[in-house]
Amino acid sequence: MEALYALHNRISVNLLDYPAPTSSQLENIFRSGLRACDHKNLRPWKFLLIEGDARNRLGDLMAQVKQATSQGTELSEEDKVKLQKKPLRAPTIIAVIADIKQHEKVPEIEQLLSAGAAAQMMMTSAFAQGLGAIWRSGSLMFTREMHTGLGLTDHQKLVGFIYLGTVKACKQVPELVIEDYVERWPS
Ligand SMILES: Cc1cc2nc3c(=O)[nH]c(=O)nc-3n(C[C@H](O)[C@H](O)[C@H](O)COP(=O)(O)O)c2cc1C
Repeated sequence: MEALYALHNRISVNLLDYPAPTSSQLENIFRSGLRACDHKNLRPWKFLLIEGDARNRLGDLMAQVKQATSQGTELSEEDKVKLQKKPLRAPTIIAVIADIKQHEKVPEIEQLLSAGAAAQMMMTSAFAQGLGAIWRSGSLMFTREMHTGLGLTDHQKLVGFIYLGTVKACKQVPELVIEDYVERWPS
């Protein structure tokens, strides 16, 4: 696929199925992430590949974190099962993590942006290979409990989960008007 075609037409896909991305498709995705813009070349990112039964572990973690952060309210069985099933919405998930380094010229916000840019690069790489992908988050993602459960250190922050798979159904690319977002400065 032409690079510009992919950049202009990438779309998120929330209905994903097997087959899962192949190892060579995943390699392309990770290579793309590693080319995100990166002030001082800190490589402020880390990626966790979650496939197969590991998705059930992630679902259990989501339910545990929800319970732990519910301030004493007991999680209903229905809500628990719902959370446990969330990672099963795609055959493959990549957790994108900002691995924040101490640097006098590169504040945390720049490193978070860089990890976000890596996520976007991976999204576009998935699309360019004909895969479906969607970037998901959710309030649990920002909790210390979720970070600990994923095995992250104090200087690592979860940026998002990229769900990957084969496209089951796809929406239309919206028509956006450049002029709505761009103006000359000074006007
Ligand atoms: C940081 C971030 C977090 C997101 N979290 C969610 C989410 O939890 N659930 C969801 O359905 N979409 C989420 N989205 C939005 C989708 O990934 C997607 O961008 C949106 O549905 C628009 O679709 P499009 O990418 O095809 O334009 C998130 C996007 C970003 C950038």
